[in-house]
Amino acid sequence: MDHLLTLQDVPRAWIEALLDRAQAFADGVAVPPALGGVAVCTLFFEPSTRTRLSFDLAAQRLGAHVLHFDAASSSTTKGETAADTFRTIEAMGVRGFVVRHREDGAVAALAALAAPGTALVNAGDGRSAHPTQGLLDMLTIRQATGRAIADCRVAIVGDILHSRVARSDLHALRALGCRDIRACAPASLLPRDATLDGCAVTQDLDAALDGADVVMTLRLQRERMQDGLVDSLEAYHAGYGITEARLSRAAAHAVVLHPGPINRGVEISDAVADGPRSRILAQVRNGVAVRMAVLEALLG
Ligand code: NCD
Repeated sequence: MDHLLTLQDVPRAWIEALLDRAQAFADGVAVPPALGGVAVCTLFFEPSTRTRLSFDLAAQRLGAHVLHFDAASSSTTKGETAADTFRTIEAMGVRGFVVRHREDGAVAALAALAAPGTALVNAGDGRSAHPTQGLLDMLTIRQATGRAIADCRVAIVGDILHSRVARSDLHALRALGCRDIRACAPASLLPRDATLDGCAVTQDLDAALDGADVVMTLRLQRERMQDGLVDSLEAYHAGYGITEARLSRAAAHAVVLHPGPINRGVEISDAVADGPRSRILAQVRNGVAVRMAVLEALLG
């Protein structure tokens, strides 16, 4: 694999090997300087906290030089295109690019321009894909449940329509053989294309949570949303917010994931986000290990 742009159609064996390697990093295996002498640029045209910092840390741990590109303080503000920005940084000898962009397909378009030996990782494009988030979510589920993904009952709840995280999670869950995926949102936030093929789709949160082992909740992406898709934040919380009371329908051992950033009191209550079922900070921790494994696989 030259680039990691999506988890769609990525073979199960590749994903499992990647997760095993990430687990080894999480367990504290000796880290080889696999990226010694390699320059990696985090090329973010959209805001980020955890994705960008964890890629930075992952690349540094593998011995890379890390450069940051910040659209707001760059020549993008003078009208320079993403393609020209990419070619400019690549011309400096940078070989790894971690790219986030608001447009669907934007990272693949840059990958098509890349010279042989340059690797791009999609850190989120539009609504389409966020493959390392999908991988770190699978690692977190494996750890939290102690089961194979194939044997987990997984509920994905919230703004699926706008979520690249949900799309990458779905690709990964299917690749790993998960047979019980419930997708739950108000009708206005459910995609109408093939995204949810094979899922049990419902607008009823209690039905989605019934016996679930894993609840993956999603941020309401108001920056990508037209007005009127939800009546009010209060009504959304009443219908789809993950609270202790709603979780009484899930399995007793159920865990809750959220990719962050969280809207407290909207898609998740404080008590759940900070409570014993929450694996939100485990996801963040696993993000570093997964991104180390991805960078090593592509550039090591
Ligand atoms: C997500 C993203 O940017 O797609 N955040 C993340 O990378 N952890 C989810 C979101 O912004 O809601």
